Amino acid sequence: MIEKLATWQSRNSKIPFDMFSLSRSADEARRMDKLRHIYHRGQDLAWDGRDVLGELIEKHGGINVSPEHAAALGRVFEIILWGELAAWKISAELAEQIVPLEAKMAATAQAHDEARHFYVMYDYLRALGYTPTRIDPYSQRVLDLTLGARSLVQKILGMQLMLETIALTIFAEVRESRVEPVLSDLLHYYEKDEARHVGLGTQFLPTLMRGQRGLATADTLWFQARLIFWSTASLKAMERDLHVLGIEAPHLIERGKRIQGKAYAEMWEQLGGAPASNEWINRFLSGVDAAVFPGVDVALDLPARMRRFVDGVRAPLPA
Ligand SMILES: [Fe+2]
Ligand SMILES: [Fe+2]
Repeated sequence: MIEKLATWQSRNSKIPFDMFSLSRSADEARRMDKLRHIYHRGQDLAWDGRDVLGELIEKHGGINVSPEHAAALGRVFEIILWGELAAWKISAELAEQIVPLEAKMAATAQAHDEARHFYVMYDYLRALGYTPTRIDPYSQRVLDLTLGARSLVQKILGMQLMLETIALTIFAEVRESRVEPVLSDLLHYYEKDEARHVGLGTQFLPTLMRGQRGLATADTLWFQARLIFWSTASLKAMERDLHVLGIEAPHLIERGKRIQGKAYAEMWEQLGGAPASNEWINRFLSGVDAAVFPGVDVALDLPARMRRFVDGVRAPLPA
């Protein structure tokens, strides 16, 4: 009687007892191995944020930067700060929701990394003399949209493939600018971690995307379109601060597309190649970028913008 009651009550268990009986293709098994590796690498390469930041500040004799650069760095990296919190929340949700063991392990390792990225970035901004308050509404839209994503596919596509690659691009550009040496050295640590997080996206998304059909696919495309729209607006809002730091938006976009393109290519390869429509979507987006980013303080009338759009669509896509 009690046994029957217990069995009946446990029919909706949150423990996926069948998780090890899911069948896997050879290709999927290989990707799962890579995901397991991401977890162990995360453990081996975990760094102590308190020590690293303290040592870097000591090594460079403190943070020495002009007030103009400090203000621009503060505003750009406050967006990164809240982005790290969003990444922390999303990776923790993924760690909870993903079923396959290796992908769950990779997401758990990411949550550990993002917690470090968040607190270290806060400590850095405080050392810079900057108090985080809130960010421009476009960047906030990007983060809220990703946090509110309706499916695991959208969450991973938004965070691991889009936002992480954008962050990687900004980190690389700021690191190379050497505007502030403590930050340049610190970003080196961030970049290594973020590259693993992109790996979670490229290795696990094919498994999830194979199960997507019809309406779910259309909903994911709509999600991506909105995310690209608000990311472009966010970059426009950041453009002047980046310019102050010696980084020009078109250059950043080009580099970002290369990094993002590589991550997407890796993912499409697992799914048997990118859809033919991809090239036209990318051409359209190049046109939009050309029209929206003619350069800081370059005033353009509508016909001139249209010409830039058409030239952008016609230009060869970056390899
Ligand atoms: Fe991060
Ligand atoms: Fe990350």
